[in-house]
Amino acid sequence: MTSTPEFSDCATPQYLSATVVEQEPMAQDTYRLRLECPQIAKNILPGQFFMVREPEVNDPLLGRPFALYDTCLDETGQPTGLDFGYVVVGKLTARMTHWQPGDQVEIWGPLGNGFPMPGSGALAMVAGGIGQTPFLATAREALGLREYGQSQRILNEFPEKVSLLYGARSKAYLAGLNDFKLTGLDVEVATDDGTFGHHGYVTDLLQQQIDSSTPPATIFCCGPEPMMEAVGKIAIKAGIPCWLSLETPMACGFGACFSCVAKVRINDEEWDYRRTCVEGPVFKAESLVF
Ligand code: FES
Repeated sequence: MTSTPEFSDCATPQYLSATVVEQEPMAQDTYRLRLECPQIAKNILPGQFFMVREPEVNDPLLGRPFALYDTCLDETGQPTGLDFGYVVVGKLTARMTHWQPGDQVEIWGPLGNGFPMPGSGALAMVAGGIGQTPFLATAREALGLREYGQSQRILNEFPEKVSLLYGARSKAYLAGLNDFKLTGLDVEVATDDGTFGHHGYVTDLLQQQIDSSTPPATIFCCGPEPMMEAVGKIAIKAGIPCWLSLETPMACGFGACFSCVAKVRINDEEWDYRRTCVEGPVFKAESLVF
């Protein structure tokens, strides 16, 4: 009998200044940024996010949400920094490509609920595009390679198998494949154009795994909305608990503006809006109305 995933309590968000430590290209139009911010690094959980804003800049005025890729540790093993990935899609991310080590930015977090603790059954993490970013920390935690947050988050059981099913439109957009070479992590890749891995959609890989002799007991997913809707439907049909991390645009990040709402079922016949920034971004698949 395998145990089921559970959410853990999240730390109170803080509004801080952080220092850019390094910036690396990850894939086409895709970068990884590292910020020194020990106050958030020691509390953040896999699947949580933070808002980042450039100080004294009015265009764009608002910050943007970024999911935790991983924390980085000092020589004593204490979390001191936050890594996150981003794709250049607008004014802020275009400006971010020019950020240099030593630059100061504004950050608030940790935000959102993050993924639940995975339980002891096989875990499949399904990612599309930059939606792979929540899964490096999730994988490390599920494999027992790292711990996150304060003591309440220490896993006392681990999934019997952990897989990353990662889809992108083409090989040039696959980000961080080397980072995911973790002992015990099964990685399968799909590209829309067939330039790497399976020629087709990542949902094909998920269906193959469900049809295999070791189907997942739990599915976590993050990526474009059509992909997540498809993954959610596959999981519901197969009777597998599935959590989706929504990439909803956000303005304030702390529940005040209602720019990030998603339709969430409140019973068999009714739905209501829920704020992705405070009641998500991770929701159970069957609770969402697409
Ligand atoms: Fe403002 Fe969620 S981003 S309420």
